[in-house]
Amino acid sequence: MNVEKETLILNTTEEDIEKAAEIIKAGGLVAFPTETVYGLGADAFNAHAVQSIYEAKGRPSDNPTIVHIADYDSINKIAANVTEDMRRLAVAFWPGPMTMVVKKKPEVPSVTTGGLETVGVRLPETYEARELIRKSGTAIAAPSANISGCPSPTSWEHVYKDMNGKIDAIIKGGRCKHGIESSVIDMTEDIPMVLRPGVITAEMFSIVLGKDVVLDPTLNRMPEGDFVPKAPGMKYKHYAPRAEVTVFAGDPFKARATMDTRAARLRQEGNSVAVIEFQDEETAGRELFGRLRDADEINVDYIFIKAVSEEGMGFAVMNRMLKAAGYNVIEC
Ligand code: TXA
Ligand code: MG
Repeated sequence: MNVEKETLILNTTEEDIEKAAEIIKAGGLVAFPTETVYGLGADAFNAHAVQSIYEAKGRPSDNPTIVHIADYDSINKIAANVTEDMRRLAVAFWPGPMTMVVKKKPEVPSVTTGGLETVGVRLPETYEARELIRKSGTAIAAPSANISGCPSPTSWEHVYKDMNGKIDAIIKGGRCKHGIESSVIDMTEDIPMVLRPGVITAEMFSIVLGKDVVLDPTLNRMPEGDFVPKAPGMKYKHYAPRAEVTVFAGDPFKARATMDTRAARLRQEGNSVAVIEFQDEETAGRELFGRLRDADEINVDYIFIKAVSEEGMGFAVMNRMLKAAGYNVIEC
């Protein structure tokens, strides 16, 4: 059982980031803003500290964390070897929403990688995140700072709601610029594979590398049989609010009309229904998790969401939306 502790709310001043870094050095847990979602950080080389991330989140122990670094050279402390392809991706996309899965150095504890011989590495964009890592003098293992299975936090209030009393501190930054987690690309095989889609698309990776990049074939499909995703975290129930979620796909006008008709009928029967539609894929990425949380806050029974295009980063948005809905989709 977790013992309740007092969670410090810190600002983004030098002084407060310094305090946060002291907590990391002492083996504590600090939530911090990144451009994707808020992370829940611990010293990546302190197995005991990383173990307590899993406890605070209620996260399955075979789901590896992402190791965050403050500058490119620090990859040498994490990765067993750095290839030319890895270097190219880093130059093109770091700091930014990209995690590369690489062979790990023996110094990276196995609890940090969920028992795998590979490790996900990311150099985040926000100043607060990089200052925290730099001042801590280590690399920071950080999954998203939500209770396992809930939508990822895109504001410090979301983190507070899930983690108050369970972690040592929260750095109170702004809202996250992208709102969905980083693209995860496996660089351990000859053909790089996108394990989790994000703002940086397979096409973008492929252009930079000048070669084919494939998508994990399990992405954006109803899971079946032993067809399991390669990123351990992608197999778990995720982003799921309490309300029943339905995605309305197909012709956009028909989808909207169908949502409205069904919502009206359910409301007549005494249910509360949240109907969500986004202007474009970027807005959907930024707002999806927050809207799912809002709907739960006001205790709705049903959430209806209109699908966005699967083009570009829309593929990543649909990945999260389909999971939130448990693949409950109505084609219109
Ligand atoms: O944007 C992000 O990546 C955020 C911020 C905080 O940086 N972090 C994040 O972490 O989303 P998390 O733990 O919620 O998701 C990590 C994902 C999981 O699906 C996990 O299975 C996968 O990355 N992953 C991490 N290391 C891996 C590895 N060695 N092999 C395969 N998948 C890995
Ligand atoms: Mg997560």
